[in-house]
Amino acid sequence: MEKSYRKLLNNNKKWVVKQLKANPTYFEDLAKGQNPEYLWIGCSDSRVPANQITGTQPGEMFVHRNIANMVVHSDMNMLSVLSYAVEVLKVKHVIVCGHYGCGGVKAAMGNKQFGLIDNWLRHIKDVYRLHHEELDAIEDTEQRGRRFVEVNVMEQVLDLGKTTIIQNAWRNNQPLHVHGWVYDINDGIIKDLNVNCTCLEDLHAIYQFEE
Ligand code: CO
Repeated sequence: MEKSYRKLLNNNKKWVVKQLKANPTYFEDLAKGQNPEYLWIGCSDSRVPANQITGTQPGEMFVHRNIANMVVHSDMNMLSVLSYAVEVLKVKHVIVCGHYGCGGVKAAMGNKQFGLIDNWLRHIKDVYRLHHEELDAIEDTEQRGRRFVEVNVMEQVLDLGKTTIIQNAWRNNQPLHVHGWVYDINDGIIKDLNVNCTCLEDLHAIYQFEE
């Protein structure tokens, strides 16, 4: 029986052949450098592959993924990705994309212990507490979970705006839009939440840094 990991290496060889057939200088061109227009902050969930669901190709999207697409301001990994994307690559759009049926959000909604991950889920629970009036009022658990996914994305968009990285880009009039989206794993459609966070004034005054 073919070991499942072998399949990946074989797929890779086939993919290389296919790419070269379509464009003999494909890898040569990509090796010259990247100039992506988008930074994607998404969930690690295997059902939400950033490139496939947006029809983007290698070189088009800088990607950061973690459980429940969180923007945690003490996360050196996320901050490094954000800083490089905004300050060096000068991406034009930062997209936070959550998804309905997110296991991280579901876990955060409950009271079960899951181990170490509880510390990560705490950040999501904090979002619930901020929106508890609206969320608690939704009786249907499924619907409450869907709304929780949405408000979580909205909060992550605001959390991006609270970083000096994004604020300095806005201040320097760098064209940079921050978006909040939710992907529906049931039908494959991405919904734009139209979150308004495009300038310092969209944030609570306490978060607005001076120059
Ligand atoms: Co998820």
